Amino acid sequence: MRKIGILTGGGDCPGLNAVIRGVVQKCLLHDIQVFGFRKGWLGALSGDGNDLTLDMVEDIQTLGGTILESSRTNIMKIENGPEKVKKVMEQLGLEGIIAVGGDDTLGVANKLQKMGMNMIGVPKTIDNDLSCTDYTFGFDTATNIAADAIDRLHTTAKSHSRCFVVEVMGRHTGWIAIQAGMAAGAHMILIPEFPKTIEEVVEKVMERKNRGKNYCIICVAEGFELAATDHTNIETDEFGNVRLEKKEIGPSIAKLIEEKTGINTRATVLGHLIRGGTPTAFDRVLGTKLGVKAAELVIDKAYGCMVALQGNAIVPVDLDMAVTTQKRVDAEFYQHAGYFFG
Ligand code: F6P
Repeated sequence: MRKIGILTGGGDCPGLNAVIRGVVQKCLLHDIQVFGFRKGWLGALSGDGNDLTLDMVEDIQTLGGTILESSRTNIMKIENGPEKVKKVMEQLGLEGIIAVGGDDTLGVANKLQKMGMNMIGVPKTIDNDLSCTDYTFGFDTATNIAADAIDRLHTTAKSHSRCFVVEVMGRHTGWIAIQAGMAAGAHMILIPEFPKTIEEVVEKVMERKNRGKNYCIICVAEGFELAATDHTNIETDEFGNVRLEKKEIGPSIAKLIEEKTGINTRATVLGHLIRGGTPTAFDRVLGTKLGVKAAELVIDKAYGCMVALQGNAIVPVDLDMAVTTQKRVDAEFYQHAGYFFG
């Protein structure tokens, strides 16, 4: 019997379980056994995991998180990491691994593919910043939660004549901030792609106040920079990513606005709240389709690919191309959002 491995790495993401279910269902229909590694690449180092049955994946598309658990283990930083994974694959009789993850997890898969191990990537991140795919699953759920939170802050902001700075996830890009901010009518959206000075931010806040509006909501992506910031002392994860929650961009901006305008200002950091919980129907369906397509690539032995959403189609793209570039918010989208600032 043919056998394949699957793992989920990096931050958890609504829709992961739909992918796992899609892979297992389709593979078993073709007599391909699926071995689920526990905790991403960590499980692949030691062979920690188990065979997945239809029973185990029944109805899991409705659940957030990942039944396989996750970690941010970087096997490239572990002595003989790739060799250990290769050995585990041989011992378990796996012809390849489906890696479900963001740029870090898929970056590792890409390196292993180049070392001769069979890999298929499934793009996952609430940040939506992976190239070659129009959307990543999890993004829709995250933006809906963030938009709902901003809707709710409107009432408190109005009632108390306050300015609110809402910080949302988005490490390198502002997809979540712009999508949620536009949907919920934020009066300014601050994203890494389009830096601004505190003076520009304050100008918009004052412009609005001078129009007689007693409240203001600013949506900021955690990766936004006000000016060149020194990150040398901020903690990083195993992939060298700065732990952005330590940077506290939302609270810093709120403090500066209050100091410079005298307007009562509060910060709300949504953080992991937008990454957890039940996936939207869109993310369940996208995850399912990507999982099934990944299984089809296994059936065809078409390794070295990532499955992607392009238009309405799920297509295979070159894994190397997908992980070496980043998808950033374009100028037109930001310009359109800007018509509603102030
Ligand atoms: O998975 C992407 C992401 O959600 C980023 O938006 C965020 O910066 C990061 O993960 C947070 O990581 P952790 O859960 O390890 O704190």
